[in-house]
Amino acid sequence: MAALAAAPDSDQTGPAVLRGGTDAPAVPSRSVVIFSGIQPTGRKHLGNHIGGIRQYVAGQDKAAPAIYCIVDLHAVTVEYEPVKLRERVYDTTAILLAAGLDPERCILFRQGDVHEHAELSWLLSSVTSVGELNRMHQFRDKSAQQRRLVSAGLLFYPVLQAADVLAYRADEVPVGEDQREHLELMRDVAERFNGRFGETLVLPASRIPEVGARVLDLQDPARKMSTTGATEQGTVYVLDEPGTIAKKFRRAVTDSGSEIVRAEDKPGVTNLIEILAVVRGVSPEAVEHDFAGRGYGDLKTAVGDEVAGWLAPVRERYEALRGDDSQLEGILAEGAEKARAIAAGTLADVREAMGVGPARRSVGPAT
Ligand code: TYM
Repeated sequence: MAALAAAPDSDQTGPAVLRGGTDAPAVPSRSVVIFSGIQPTGRKHLGNHIGGIRQYVAGQDKAAPAIYCIVDLHAVTVEYEPVKLRERVYDTTAILLAAGLDPERCILFRQGDVHEHAELSWLLSSVTSVGELNRMHQFRDKSAQQRRLVSAGLLFYPVLQAADVLAYRADEVPVGEDQREHLELMRDVAERFNGRFGETLVLPASRIPEVGARVLDLQDPARKMSTTGATEQGTVYVLDEPGTIAKKFRRAVTDSGSEIVRAEDKPGVTNLIEILAVVRGVSPEAVEHDFAGRGYGDLKTAVGDEVAGWLAPVRERYEALRGDDSQLEGILAEGAEKARAIAAGTLADVREAMGVGPARRSVGPAT
């Protein structure tokens, strides 16, 4: 088995390279593998779109392959309704397709269809410490929100997430800032695995966008925009009507003062500047420059109108796609088949390295 190059842990985008020494020119390695996952909910918000989905779409032109997974197995770690889960998977599939994922150019699948994730997660648990899992901020936050049961699955969540990525030997994982800790953990897990059992897994790098990595709640800019724990009026959904979006932005909480600049003590205004920069595809400085001498009201109206215009085609395409469950199921099933073909190879290597199951050379027809 070939030793695998660790991708650099940085937020820079760019192909993974192998370097032969300080003076050696960078030579392109095997093509970049991108992987990311998203929870199945029908209520994807602007934070998901800017921090995650927009990056997935861009990744299709860069990676071979770009692999995206709707993580139904993660969704069962908190209270949920089984009947709704399947519907939410279809909702999310339709949103991703509407946003620009193309099953011809990426692998889009449902996590629960590829059993290798669950088995790899178990095997990786042997190189994951309970202490690390206990310290994860997401575990602490989510366990505090549970009314009935804090499931072992919630504690285990990051191990399954590590399995998701490591199963595909992904180089890059596009995510928002809130996933940084999980990405660091999976690198530790992969490194520990390779140290203990031999070079088998690739250490993935997080790809966290420079602007828009943490979109804030419009009503409470001390918190990130989120489907749980944030305010309804402060959360802009991808499927909101344009009028609703404009209204939510018009009512956005801004800060004292009147200057339109990014500053630590101006989280509300900074958030609006960054959102507009992403929508316009320009730098935050360009937005500040454009709004110099103008008031907060102008900024709120502009961001609201432009976000509404930006998301409108996604909502329209969603409406057209969401009606056909069997088409969505077909896309997911095809994606799962392609995903399984890759994940099964990694799992076989992991089992071999760990001594699980029969040794590979003993398998096959007797001579
Ligand atoms: P999820 O479904 O909560 O979020 C999907 C993506 O949206 C990003 N995001 C945000 N970005 C900017 N601002 C925000 N306010 C904001 N809120 C969410 C998230 O960072 C994420 O990129 N644990 C993951 C799902 C997962 C996964 C994986 C991700 C499972 N396996 C493997 C990457 C690789 C999650 O709950 O994402």
